[in-house]
Amino acid sequence: MRKTARSPRSTRTRTAAGAALAATALLLGLAAAPSAQAEADGKHRAATLDELAQRSGRYFGSAVDNPELADTEYADLLGREFGTTTPGNTMKWEATEPQRGVFDFTGGDEVIDFARANGMKVRGHTLLWHNQLPGWLTEGTWTKDELRSILKNHITHVVKHYRGKVFAWDVANEIMNEDGTYRENIFYKTIGPGYIADALRWARAADPKVKLYLNDYNVDGLGAKSDAYYALIKQLKADRVPIDGFGLQGHLALQYGLPAGIKENLQRFADLGVDVAFTELDIRMQLPADPAKLAEQADWYGKVTSACLEVKRCVGITVWGYSDRHSWIPGVFEGEGAALPFDENLQHKPAYDAIRAALIAGAKKG
Ligand code: G3I
Repeated sequence: MRKTARSPRSTRTRTAAGAALAATALLLGLAAAPSAQAEADGKHRAATLDELAQRSGRYFGSAVDNPELADTEYADLLGREFGTTTPGNTMKWEATEPQRGVFDFTGGDEVIDFARANGMKVRGHTLLWHNQLPGWLTEGTWTKDELRSILKNHITHVVKHYRGKVFAWDVANEIMNEDGTYRENIFYKTIGPGYIADALRWARAADPKVKLYLNDYNVDGLGAKSDAYYALIKQLKADRVPIDGFGLQGHLALQYGLPAGIKENLQRFADLGVDVAFTELDIRMQLPADPAKLAEQADWYGKVTSACLEVKRCVGITVWGYSDRHSWIPGVFEGEGAALPFDENLQHKPAYDAIRAALIAGAKKG
């Protein structure tokens, strides 16, 4: 996802010397992308993660929670380094429809505006989830028909509002249990499993072009949960239900080991005819971080990136926030953190270099 000339921040940061070099290269008909060797020699401005991902037709993105946009140092780097962003909270149901039939797009629009100003694209997250639902919805008692109508109205309004502004939607988020059975969320309990196909169809009706995803955690490797999604997506395809992608959140933790069969897993979904993407990647550890843990984390980031690049339909990678300065992890997993490729001071960690190396190697092969 190449940043456009409209991008004030990305153009502003390019040096005049860099621009002159690029112009000369264009005049001479040279390839625009500097070679890995030239880059290593420090002869060019280091390409960003997104620019490196673009060399093999992918994007590299980071989620953002709206309050983080006020941290200008953080927001500047987000706008420079990444090609896409995902709002961490403000497109969720409790934010977008806080009262029944009353929609509020303020927070989501703020992310869209930031992205536009920085030449970034936006992944929509999420239309339907068991978490962060508004009280009026969870506390109400609904018949099947009523809840179907509420769900249809929500999806239709939100997807229409963001039509042409987001390139993908996590339509249904975290709808399976670890053992591969359906999660008994309010929609499953009231409507039955058909709510998933309904949601996808309503999203497609509201925006014929946006990519429609199912998205979950602990589905990165082979296992009961990813098997369940494999079976579901196969069935949805057979039933001609619109489904374009499968999002692997990628919330990994060093203490649990790297999931087995990541590449095979990505490939089997791709073979069903859907795109795949890492949508919320982070790799946490038990604190304090030390050089050995950071090296292992870097190794994992490199392996996940390479696995994506080895599968043609793996379209991109999004980290769930890019630095340890702002991360959901310490607030949820006590004593854990240090999960992102940049540290609290926005300095590169070994993970950052490992991602770069994997992107450069993948682009060469591709
Ligand atoms: O908005 C309120 C604010 O008014 C209040 O003062 C404050 C006090 O705690 O809380 C604020 O809400 C917080 C919200 O984020 C917005 O910042 C919630 O407490 C907090 O629980 C919520 O956490 C979010 C979490 O989803 C909720 O489950 C994280 O920021 C967000 O990164 C996280 O994202 C999820 C993905 O959507 C799905 N996959 C897992 C991922 C990580 O949990």
